[in-house]
Amino acid sequence: MNVLLTGANGFLGRNIAAALAAAGHQVTPLSRNFGTDFSRMLAPTHWLPHLEGMDAVINSVGIIGESGSQRFEPLHTLAPAALFRACAQAGVRRVLQISALGADETAFSAYHLSKRAADDLLRSLNLDWFVLRPSLIYGRGGKSAGLFMRLAALPLIPVISDGQQALQPVHISDVVATVMHSLASPEARQTLDIVGTETVTFAEWLQWMRQVQGLPPAPVIRIPFPLAMALARVGRHFTPMLQPENLRMLQTGYRADVRPLAQFLGRLPLAVAPHLFFSDILPSGSAS
Ligand SMILES: NC(=O)c1ccc[n+]([C@@H]2O[C@H](COP(=O)([O-])OP(=O)(O)OC[C@H]3O[C@@H](n4cnc5c(N)ncnc54)[C@H](OP(=O)(O)O)[C@@H]3O)[C@@H](O)[C@H]2O)c1
Repeated sequence: MNVLLTGANGFLGRNIAAALAAAGHQVTPLSRNFGTDFSRMLAPTHWLPHLEGMDAVINSVGIIGESGSQRFEPLHTLAPAALFRACAQAGVRRVLQISALGADETAFSAYHLSKRAADDLLRSLNLDWFVLRPSLIYGRGGKSAGLFMRLAALPLIPVISDGQQALQPVHISDVVATVMHSLASPEARQTLDIVGTETVTFAEWLQWMRQVQGLPPAPVIRIPFPLAMALARVGRHFTPMLQPENLRMLQTGYRADVRPLAQFLGRLPLAVAPHLFFSDILPSGSAS
């Protein structure tokens, strides 16, 4: 297949690109790095030239926090909506949208709401669509996993409130496997939560990350939620990941039933194991 892959140089996108290439598909990558900024792709006409000769589109562009010209509405909603409408016009029927766990009727954050708006638009179109909603993705080279690794390596592990927030991390290879399956599946028009088999607390997850770095367990320091929010208001100027709203999402915790994914894949996703923190699907040395 000829596949237009947006976000192709991201953590997820570059692993999807590798899997597509390994399966013999032709990948056309797209992102700012490849010369196209979503902020300027807000009408279907902007997308039509990119869709010539395409059999499928995978949208894997996303930001975790706003900064400068990087805003949720154009990147998560308007540009994808224009892309999906262009797919309907051009007859590119197979469209995969990478959304996020929590982009559902419970969504409250600009991150989730902006993704859900694009998901809803895609679901309304007469296309062979998939809306894929991963939980926290871990594996070699992930940005949020990298931040958690650094937090976990501190002599005192900082957790928010009691650190009991629920996470259901999923390995990058399972997300890529779901994408590949969605590309070929005759049963399109599905919204799938991509979650791991285990629910862990934030505190447990950081201890795991400490252990895989060869460090002994460390005491936990509890940061009251209001103080964490105040720190995030300062921290967001250094990294968009530290937006106060991201702390609210972490505090909410997200989990989902793994059975629909297991049924779709014909197997359970991988159980968390130490070696998986440093692995992806790319050939060794090719991840950035
Ligand atoms: N990682 C996770 O734990 C996780 C969990 C749930 C959902 N997701 C979703 O999965 C998708 C991929 O995440 P990721 O972890 O791979 O993120 P990532 O590593 O930050 O990659 C983001 C991608 O988006 C592209 N991008 C950013 N701004 C752009 C713009 N203005 N125009 C065009 N492209 C732009 C980036 O390329 P350039 O910088 O070259 O533009 C990059 O290819 C996102 O939608 C994310 O919300 C991720």
